[in-house]
Amino acid sequence: MTINVAKISKLDRASVLHPFTQLADFASGKLGDPIIVETGKGIRIQDATGKELIDGFAGLYCVNIGYGRTEVAEAISRQAYRLAYYHTYAAHTTDELAILSDRLVRMAPGKMSKIFYGMSGSDANETNVKLVWYYNNLRGKPKKKKIISRMRGYHGCSVVSGSLTGMSFYHDHMDLPVSGIIHTGAPHHYWGAEAGESELAFSARRATELDELIQREGADTVGAFIAEPVLGTGGITPPPEGYWSAIQEVLKKHDVLLIADEVITGFGRTGSMFGCHHYGIEPDLITIAKGLTSAYFPLSGSIVSEKVYQVMEEGAAKVGAFSHGYTYSGHPIGAAAANAVLDIVEKENLPGNARVVGDYFQKRLSATFAQLPIVGEVRGVGLMGAIEFVADRDRKTRFDAGLKVGARVSKAARDRGLIARAMPHGDILGFAPPLVTTKEEVDEIVSIAEAAVREVMDELSRETAIA
Ligand SMILES: Cc1ncc(COP(=O)(O)O)c(C=O)c1O
Repeated sequence: MTINVAKISKLDRASVLHPFTQLADFASGKLGDPIIVETGKGIRIQDATGKELIDGFAGLYCVNIGYGRTEVAEAISRQAYRLAYYHTYAAHTTDELAILSDRLVRMAPGKMSKIFYGMSGSDANETNVKLVWYYNNLRGKPKKKKIISRMRGYHGCSVVSGSLTGMSFYHDHMDLPVSGIIHTGAPHHYWGAEAGESELAFSARRATELDELIQREGADTVGAFIAEPVLGTGGITPPPEGYWSAIQEVLKKHDVLLIADEVITGFGRTGSMFGCHHYGIEPDLITIAKGLTSAYFPLSGSIVSEKVYQVMEEGAAKVGAFSHGYTYSGHPIGAAAANAVLDIVEKENLPGNARVVGDYFQKRLSATFAQLPIVGEVRGVGLMGAIEFVADRDRKTRFDAGLKVGARVSKAARDRGLIARAMPHGDILGFAPPLVTTKEEVDEIVSIAEAAVREVMDELSRETAIA
């Protein structure tokens, strides 16, 4: 099919409300035309003008198996022909869904029992918060409802999940956060540590702060702590040494549930199947989305532990049916897509690829960028990584936000054929390529990124010389 670019651009500009887009600049044309993405194969996408781009961010860290996998397209098509839809209310199911659920319970970290399905990471976190409230109501602890999240955590954009998200620009002008949600310090040693403080000491301090926060609020009012195993949209920041063991000790002490938001880290990205496996985390609830179907179909899940589920089952005699569900919970096409994707994840050992190619990627990133004068930190794990730019490495000072250094590097990379994301919190260039990426493709990604960073570095030194 040949796309009429001018016509589609016009229709789009007139009628699509785009997320995270400066509306006036888009409407006036200042941002240029919409980018009409037409096809994808492996780690590359092609737009309707024929321009090919390496997708160094796997869409939004989600197309883990890469683009164009016909096995998944066929599984979707087979299911659509056989049965396009049925609901899961009142004990209805499909074969694909039952098989998927058994598989997920066995794959997941910790002692898991059941999966509740949604369509997005945001709605799965919404469900997880309701499950915490339900659990504590059933246990006769009606005050134990507050949820502690972290600054720079990202958990979605709906009313509750957007409140859990710990970055103010997701709250501003939207009346968030709602009450009952509290944020504690980000686990980022580079910015958060005091002079000379080791990673271990910093982790212990963050755990003490959490302990004190729970005590101040009253442990009988705090229901859960939610966190990504690796801070994602807040800057792709692996946890400092000792962080997860120290945090879990505090949560256990206060009978506070742990929700592990594995929307990015689930299904291999860190080099382990789940981020919880990677960091020794034992969650009570797990949020999954993105990699579950590699985004070939919208599907998310809340994985419920034995501990939480037992209380729900025992409470049924008292409260009746579990009154929560969406029309599309457990959609059969989503389940078929997920089974086909997980076949690929397992057969091709994508967590293993993320570990081996990821190690190579991390080494290449460090070797190429860590010593550049505008780079403060290079960090990552598996196939997720980030370069953080600073104005002064010794004093650790940020660039003036008006210089838009992160966005400029991202644009320079895109102009050279690489998508690497300007992360929203600071001048950070983020990478999360598909988990099928090879070492040769890593070399391509790193060399384009290097050219982009050097271009902006040169521009900045010219601008400073003029000023
Ligand atoms: C860790 C995490 N949780 C939740 C979400 C929200 O998922 P969705 O955009 O599917 O609602 C995201 C999205 O990027 C995420 O990274």
